[in-house]
Amino acid sequence: VTLLVAVSGWEPEAWAKRLRRLMPGRTVLTTDGQGLFEGDDAALAEVRYALVWKPRPEVLERLPQLEVIFSLGAGVDHILGLPQLPDVPVVRIVDPDLTGRMVEYVVWQVLHHHRRGPEYARQQSERQWRERRQPAAHEVTIGIMGLGVLGQAAAVALGRLGFRLAGWSRSEKQLPDMACFHGTEGLAPFLGQTDILVALLPLTPETSGILNYKLFAQMKREGPLGGPVVINAGRGGSQVEADIVAALEDGKLKGASLDVFETEPLPPDSPLWSRPEVVITPHNAAVSDPEALTRQIAGQIAAYERGAPLKNLVDTARGY
Ligand SMILES: NC(=O)c1ccc[n+]([C@@H]2O[C@H](COP(=O)([O-])OP(=O)(O)OC[C@H]3O[C@@H](n4cnc5c(N)ncnc54)[C@H](OP(=O)(O)O)[C@@H]3O)[C@@H](O)[C@H]2O)c1
Repeated sequence: VTLLVAVSGWEPEAWAKRLRRLMPGRTVLTTDGQGLFEGDDAALAEVRYALVWKPRPEVLERLPQLEVIFSLGAGVDHILGLPQLPDVPVVRIVDPDLTGRMVEYVVWQVLHHHRRGPEYARQQSERQWRERRQPAAHEVTIGIMGLGVLGQAAAVALGRLGFRLAGWSRSEKQLPDMACFHGTEGLAPFLGQTDILVALLPLTPETSGILNYKLFAQMKREGPLGGPVVINAGRGGSQVEADIVAALEDGKLKGASLDVFETEPLPPDSPLWSRPEVVITPHNAAVSDPEALTRQIAGQIAAYERGAPLKNLVDTARGY
C-alpha cells in the first residue's frame, strides 16, 4: 500500500519520515516542496491515500487507485477549490493539538484587545504612565462566527475567563452559556451584541468576503471597549481588507487581529502593516504539527483498513 504526501509550500519529508516510522511496510512517496511529482506514473498508480496541503490538480489526476484524500489542515478550501477533484472521500484534521493551538491564539488576541494592548504599547513607546479604564470580562461580549470544532473550543476557554458569549453558525445550535444565532436572519442580532468578533469560518461561496464594512457597521457601538474589534483566524478570503482599513479609519472598528489574508504572504505595501491597532501574524494561529497529525492519520488509516468508517469527513457539496 502506497501513500503520497503532496504539499506545496511545506517540507514534505517532515511528514513522510514520520509516516514511514509509524507505518512500516508501506511505501511513502512525496512531491517536492512545490507540489510537483517528478517520478513516473507506475509509482503513482499504487497510491491509495493522498495526504495533501494545496495539492497540484495534475498530481491528483495521476492516482487511479486513490481511495481517500486526507487534508493536512482543518480547512479544505485548498482541495475543494481544485478544478477537478477525484471522486473519493475527503477527510480533514480534527486533532486536540491543532485545536489547542487555535484556542491559545484566540485567547491571546481577545485579551490583547480587552486589556487595551494597543493603547498601552503606544503609551510605553512615549514613556507615558496612564491608567485606562479596564472593563471586566463579564462586561464584554465575544461573538464567535463559526461554531465548529475550533469555534466551540475557543468559546469554552473564553467562557472560563468570564466573557459573555454569542455565537453564529449556519445551522441552529444550542450551546451552554451562549446566545446562539444562525443563518442570514441571525446575523444582525448576533452582531448587535458583539464587542469582539472572532471569525473561525471555513472559506465557502457563502463566507467569501463576509467580513466587510457593512458587517462591521452592524456591530455593537456603545460597548465598554470604546469600539468593536475583529479577529480573523479562519480564511483570508472571508475578509475585505480595504473595508477593514476603511472601518479602522472612520472608527467603525477599534482594532483587529488578522492571521489570514486575501493574498498570502501579505504584500509589503498593505496599509494594514503600519497600523498599531492591528496585530498581524503569518497564518500560523494553529499550525499543522507533523508529529501530532501523522499519528492521527496513521490511526485513521489503520481503523479504516479494519473496516471502521472514516471520521471527520468533509461534505464536499456544502464546502466544509
Ligand atoms: N489560521 C489557522 O491557522 C487555521 C488553522 C486551522 C483552521 N483554520 C480555519 O478555521 C476554519 C474552521 O475550522 P473548524 O475545524 O472549526 O471547522 P468546522 O468544525 O467545520 O466548523 C465550521 C463552522 O462554520 C460554520 N459555517 C460554515 N458556513 C457558514 C455559513 N455560511 N454561515 C454561518 N456559519 C457557517 C459552520 O456552521 P454549522 O455548525 O451550522 O455547520 C460551523 O459551525 C477552517 O475551515 C479553516 O479555514 C485556520
